[in-house]
Amino acid sequence: MRCGQKHFEALGVPFAVVVTADEVQAPGFGCDPTSWAECSCRPRSTSTEGACSLSESLGRTTTSTSTGRFPPAPFPVTSPQERTWRSAMRAIVCPRYGGPDVLEMREVEQPSPKDDEVCVRIMATAVTASDIFIRGSDIPLRFRIPMRLMIGVTRPRQPIIGLVLAGEIASVGRTTTRFQLGDQVYGLTGFGLGAYAEYKCMKETDSKHGCLALKPANLTYEEATVAAYGGLLALQYMERGRIRRGQRVLVYGASGTSGTTAVQYAKHLGAVVTGVCSTANVELVESLGADSVIDYTKVDALEPGDRYDFVLDAVGKAKTSRLKGSCRASVSGKDRYVSIDDGSLLLDSGRLAAMKELVEAGHIRPVVDRCYPLEDIAEAHRYVEKGHKRGGVAVTVRREVVA
Ligand SMILES: NC(=O)c1ccc[n+]([C@@H]2O[C@H](COP(=O)([O-])OP(=O)(O)OC[C@H]3O[C@@H](n4cnc5c(N)ncnc54)[C@H](OP(=O)(O)O)[C@@H]3O)[C@@H](O)[C@H]2O)c1
Repeated sequence: MRCGQKHFEALGVPFAVVVTADEVQAPGFGCDPTSWAECSCRPRSTSTEGACSLSESLGRTTTSTSTGRFPPAPFPVTSPQERTWRSAMRAIVCPRYGGPDVLEMREVEQPSPKDDEVCVRIMATAVTASDIFIRGSDIPLRFRIPMRLMIGVTRPRQPIIGLVLAGEIASVGRTTTRFQLGDQVYGLTGFGLGAYAEYKCMKETDSKHGCLALKPANLTYEEATVAAYGGLLALQYMERGRIRRGQRVLVYGASGTSGTTAVQYAKHLGAVVTGVCSTANVELVESLGADSVIDYTKVDALEPGDRYDFVLDAVGKAKTSRLKGSCRASVSGKDRYVSIDDGSLLLDSGRLAAMKELVEAGHIRPVVDRCYPLEDIAEAHRYVEKGHKRGGVAVTVRREVVA
């Protein structure tokens, strides 16, 4: 466990996101700048971006997201004269901690994969609770110091943030074997971050710098980003319940990214499911298959004698209500109540593969609240920051070309 991690988990801070079991001794968050420092990936000529000239490409960078206001860029940005169309890519960088307005769209060099890496041409990313936390770093002073030591003292160590991606394999390293060019993939970037960009190089195998798997074939890239984040969270924490057919399961916070996934997963396992959400989301949660729904804005406590075999708090420790206490008291053992903030999210491509099967079989359908274009990502952050998204919020990085 990293220094300070416990504190963040106790706060319900989603930072714990990206610590895998084997990374206790591993180097800090995003300490591998080489993955975006070099270039040789060439966009495919079939893609809209790949087909355009440099001037067209550069022309797209004037956006509602602020651009280039911080001259000493913490990463290699070439001058316009030095750029070639092959090397430029658009990326959203977070040059300092702060509100959504700190996010800037910049041109940076495309990465090229090392021998054991693949390069993903990113089609969609997402704005998650984890991204908001990393950008804002807005926590009490005594926790801020250990946290900053992990993710960067004065600014994020990895300036291109973004935890979730869906896209296609654009190029592969010499020793890779798992993926073929053109494979459609989805996953998380972990400590490597970097999903707010057109390209991301990452190991093909699971590491603290991410996990990748083939994307569910029946999902758009945007939907796949919700499936990746919601699926990893929901499956990992629901598995702790060892849920059996007929058991009574309650999902507190049934309308968020992980909650909507958890409700559907519990139904698939044969549980009798109760979802908890606010008035506006009751219908949504019912539509996901919940047998009953409780509105935490109207109900302060469960009925006396109401017992559950397993309760998942899918919104984390920072969000609570009177009803939550009652839900906690409705299980028989401590291990029957699990918060999504208990421990670290495992970057596990096995779970992504399991999620793919569940989605393709029609057992789980990711809920996409809104989609934003990359240039409006600050707006997406503002929306997610309000804390009431329904399902997940996706960001389109490039549009699919319809033949
Ligand atoms: N362990 C880890 O490593 C790890 C990693 C990543 C994230 N996390 C945790 O996972 C959490 C969930 O992320 P997520 O993206 O799935 O959820 P989310 O989208 O952040 O949750 C949004 C939902 O929360 C509900 N909500 C807000 N306040 C509530 C309250 N007081 N009681 C009940 N529901 C409330 C909202 O529903 P209404 O509008 O109906 O209120 C909204 O639908 C994060 O906040 C973080 O704590 C943990």
